[in-house]
Amino acid sequence: MTAANMLNTLKVRGLSKIYQTRKGPFTAVNAVDLDIAHGEVLAVVGESGCGKSTLSRLLIGLDRSDGGDISFQDRKLYQPGEENSAHRNEGIAIVFQDPYSSLNPKMKVIDLVAEAFRYGALAAASGFRERKKLRRAKVIEYLNLVGMGEPHLDRFPHEFSGGQLQRIAFARALAQEPKLLILDEPTAALDVSVQAQILMLLKELKTRLSLSMVFISHDLGSVSFVADRIMVMYLGNRVESGPTRAVLDNPRHHYTRALIDAVPSITPGKRRELALLMSRDSDRPNVTHGCPFAGRCPSTADRCRKEAPPYIEEEANHGYACFYPVSESQS
Ligand SMILES: Nc1ncnc2c1ncn2[C@@H]1O[C@H](COP(=O)(O)OP(=O)(O)O)[C@@H](O)[C@H]1O
Ligand SMILES: [Mg+2]
Repeated sequence: MTAANMLNTLKVRGLSKIYQTRKGPFTAVNAVDLDIAHGEVLAVVGESGCGKSTLSRLLIGLDRSDGGDISFQDRKLYQPGEENSAHRNEGIAIVFQDPYSSLNPKMKVIDLVAEAFRYGALAAASGFRERKKLRRAKVIEYLNLVGMGEPHLDRFPHEFSGGQLQRIAFARALAQEPKLLILDEPTAALDVSVQAQILMLLKELKTRLSLSMVFISHDLGSVSFVADRIMVMYLGNRVESGPTRAVLDNPRHHYTRALIDAVPSITPGKRRELALLMSRDSDRPNVTHGCPFAGRCPSTADRCRKEAPPYIEEEANHGYACFYPVSESQS
């Protein structure tokens, strides 16, 4: 085992989720492997419906998996079929996309943040008044971490903007003292200018707290700004992953290539239009054999429809699942 392996915060192997729907079983997450080292930010990217939120719910234990293992700090979490128990996900916190619905509108900020404190967080206080004082001081500490403070303590959620609310949601997550923070499209519900501020905050938190993070996004611009590594998902499958720069500069899977091409470019004529990325959630096929991307791939061959390409790693930590990968000259 290498030193890097020993410092893994999260190790996921073969994680799967199958929803039973009216049309039959539907595989939302298909045998996904992933690793996150201590202090590392892994971005999970892919279009709407590819299984990002399902993956995050499995990681935090809100959903039960139908197969695979999750090890967190060398401890196995939630075995398939096992009932979730709250203590199991201690050390993992989540921030959802929409702060308007994730924060109780009837609670003051001080209570929203303090509610997240772990048992024992206020143990240093001896009596009721001491405890109240410490509680208040600790909430201010967490609010300061996210660029807010004492004046906000006694206010209610409706008194804040979307960006401020998302900061409060971050403070609440940090108050759980997590080792791993899961962020499910944390900027998607915010105005563009506010998105940039939240991304700056994320980067700052990463440096100051050396937290491991799963940063779920469909925006490659944000991803390239904060993530150390990227995992690209397509229809529940990991199709490519690797260091951020390697994946963005030298994508090997045709779906990754398509995602990068779909980012608006400031160079006229450089943007290749791809109807490829337009499919709606309701059109989502339930691919049971072959490559999941075969139906939309510009380089599909017969083999791709019959056999699922295995995930292979060619260079250090950069791997993909494709029989006929994008060559360097194409990328
Ligand atoms: N509870 C559920 N029952 C049935 N299908 C679901 C359920 N939750 C999600 N799905 C389906 O699983 C797929 C992945 O959803 P999701 O994880 O929310 O994707 P993403 O977050 O990438 O947009 C979608 O096709 C979605 O419709
Ligand atoms: Mg989602």
